[in-house]
Amino acid sequence: NGNNTQFTIAFSQCIGDDAWRETMLDEMKRELSFYPDIEFIYRDAGGDNQMQIQQIKALLEQDIDLLIVSPNEAEPLTPIVDSVFRRNIPVIVTDRKTSSGLYNAYVGADNLAIGKLAGQFIVHALGGEGQVGIITGLKGTSASIERKRGLLNALDSAGMVRLGVEVQSDWERHNAYTQAKQHIEQLLEQDIILAFNDQMAFGVSQALQEAGENKKRIIGIDALPGEGNGLSEIVKGTLFASMLYPTGGTEAIRTAMAILQRKPYKRDNILGTVVINQDNAELMMLQSNKIQEQQEDIDKRQELIVEQNTIYRNQQTTLNVLIAS
Ligand code: FRU
Repeated sequence: NGNNTQFTIAFSQCIGDDAWRETMLDEMKRELSFYPDIEFIYRDAGGDNQMQIQQIKALLEQDIDLLIVSPNEAEPLTPIVDSVFRRNIPVIVTDRKTSSGLYNAYVGADNLAIGKLAGQFIVHALGGEGQVGIITGLKGTSASIERKRGLLNALDSAGMVRLGVEVQSDWERHNAYTQAKQHIEQLLEQDIILAFNDQMAFGVSQALQEAGENKKRIIGIDALPGEGNGLSEIVKGTLFASMLYPTGGTEAIRTAMAILQRKPYKRDNILGTVVINQDNAELMMLQSNKIQEQQEDIDKRQELIVEQNTIYRNQQTTLNVLIAS
């Protein structure tokens, strides 16, 4: 990079095509708009480990200054992400992790804590006794592994709540629906069901409804604002509860800028979480709508500034031409 102020940030996303990750990208772009000199390269691996490895290899050829990565599955992505780190290109891992822990910074919620929180909430909801069925995410993803471990920790120390059926899915609504259909008899026997994200919770809910069951308590994770996402489905009663899982897009870019500008930054940036249920979903929705409005306001102002700058620059050019003639 010839120019000191001009950096290239690459973002390797494991899968781009879902509401949660679209929100993450929106947040990143918004934060990046404060740094017009930054070049941002975005790659979406479509949930394919090999594709993500290839995309990161290709990014290395492009002389990037920093890599933000959300690894699809931990084990397969570890060697390539480690090799970026070993080349002294700063690496920020977000949401999902690799297996080595070689990174400059992590940005995301603590999935072990989220699993624990869900477990404690479930124990409380069941009055200390019962059976919980789970729908897990894609097998090798750190988020799924850690959420399960956290849940089991909470159940272990609670005594009378047992893990019942475990349905292996892949984070996607449709797959969860199909899997739930196949395990419907066992799922019907559970006192409560925890899907490891809201999308899978919706799939399970659909399968249960088709089996004539619409009262089973289903819990998800993410609690994303926006129509048809977790928050609004809690208000409507489709979901019993969800654990808030912030996307961290803003924090990832802030951390990236701190690293590039050689300012102090934290290695582990753990985003907070909270249980959302009927008691606070409405409030959360009002709050997030308000924030959304304010964001749109900021976006408009930002556009105005860009416009004004262009006008100013054109006037300068005209002025210079006039002076020269
Ligand atoms: C989105 C998602 C979220 C989940 C996270 C886990 O792709 O499946 O719903 O919380 O990834 O990494």
